[in-house]
Amino acid sequence: MSTPLGSPWPSGAVREADGEVSFAGVRASALAAEHGTPAYVLDEADLRSRARRYREAFESAFAAVGAEVDVYYAGKAFLSVAVARWVLEEGLRVDTATGGELAIALRAGVPGAAIGLHGNNKSDEEIRSALEAGVGRIIVDSLVEVDRLAALAAEAGVVAPVMVRVTTGVHAGGHEYISTAHEDQKFGLSLAGEDSPAMAALLAVLERPELELLGIHSHIGSQILDPTGFAVAAEKVLSLRAALAARTGRLVPEVDLGGGFGVAYLPGEADLDPEVVAKAQAEAVASICEGLGTPLPRLSIEPGRAIVGPTTVTLYSVGTVKPVTLEDGRVRTYVSVDGGMSDNLRPALYGADYHAEIVSRRSEAEPVLARVVGKHCESGDIVVREVQLPGDVRAGDLLAVAVTGAYGRSMASNYNQVPRPPVVAVREGVSRVLVRRETVEDLLALDLG
Ligand code: LLP
Repeated sequence: MSTPLGSPWPSGAVREADGEVSFAGVRASALAAEHGTPAYVLDEADLRSRARRYREAFESAFAAVGAEVDVYYAGKAFLSVAVARWVLEEGLRVDTATGGELAIALRAGVPGAAIGLHGNNKSDEEIRSALEAGVGRIIVDSLVEVDRLAALAAEAGVVAPVMVRVTTGVHAGGHEYISTAHEDQKFGLSLAGEDSPAMAALLAVLERPELELLGIHSHIGSQILDPTGFAVAAEKVLSLRAALAARTGRLVPEVDLGGGFGVAYLPGEADLDPEVVAKAQAEAVASICEGLGTPLPRLSIEPGRAIVGPTTVTLYSVGTVKPVTLEDGRVRTYVSVDGGMSDNLRPALYGADYHAEIVSRRSEAEPVLARVVGKHCESGDIVVREVQLPGDVRAGDLLAVAVTGAYGRSMASNYNQVPRPPVVAVREGVSRVLVRRETVEDLLALDLG
């Protein structure tokens, strides 16, 4: 009998009757034979259903309070032409953070109007490309950017649609580096005080005929599992919107509450439920606006990880297996795989925990305490810090690590001149390469000698 692996694995992951795991109907061994390892394997149906579920949850929760909402997929989590098309087909828009992400969204045929551009240090070239593409919004991140943007809009002969990114002081999410709305960091403009930097930027945008002020943007962090921070941030942003209206008579039409929706990485954990968080956000926004006496804005959110993270596994081949006796006498089995921190930086950078299983066979062997490590010349090159693997784990086994879709391939490097793995989509028994594997020739081609 075949059994679904369940969370945190992609929805199409199934352990077949003979013990091998298949992903959306494609066996691990077939994936390894056709595409090699390591490889990111992305379950298309899972990604589409996550995108749809977010859109439907937010649309219905906000419709219930009389507001409209747009869901922007945050491409920084992972962007390829096919993924941009799929989220577009599922009714999402695309949030980009660089000219490169913008180029991919445009190549996918995402209309400019459905794209947002972020960045705390956008280049002139990035801003020019965004204006040329007619992006629906550019999110301004500093006061100096207001003038730069106005000048570039004038040069292009267009009026640039703008949001101002504010920092609400709300600190949410897993790790300091991935929490972006507390004060001592590089993003956004503080809204603390009556003459805050955020207010100054909003006023500056209103003064420029080359700019159209769409609204205010807040992103409070990433991998958020407790949604109360969103309401606290919403209160601050909506109060700023009301204060700007009181001062200028201009009530900006839009508010973005950012991304950051957390997901399960380990068995027994749970994703932040989009229906629950959508309802909480919608009700908070409605009651805050009622209290302020202001009409509801059009809302938007920017989930990245929650759409793509759990859809993808990294498939590795096991190489060296080495038992190491610890100081307390326990034995830890070091299982080396053919990738590592170059394809998943998150354990080394954030101490992030992952789950892994052998997917090429079933084993009845007694489980052992294992650590999955990569092939890089660095002892911090850890893929999975602690996991129980069958005691007979051996070279040639295929090992999959779950929930590597967000900030995996997108933060991959060529450390130790290791070519980056491909991204392979699986759907209904068929696999297809979305991003091909790099080769040593690719690396050599960059080196001009
Ligand atoms: N919107 C803005 C303005 C953001 O800065 C981010 C993420 C998102 C949306 C999407 O956040 P998500 O829904 O994916 O949490 N590299 C880190 C995460 C950095 C997130 C940066 N900003 C990690 O691997 O955990």
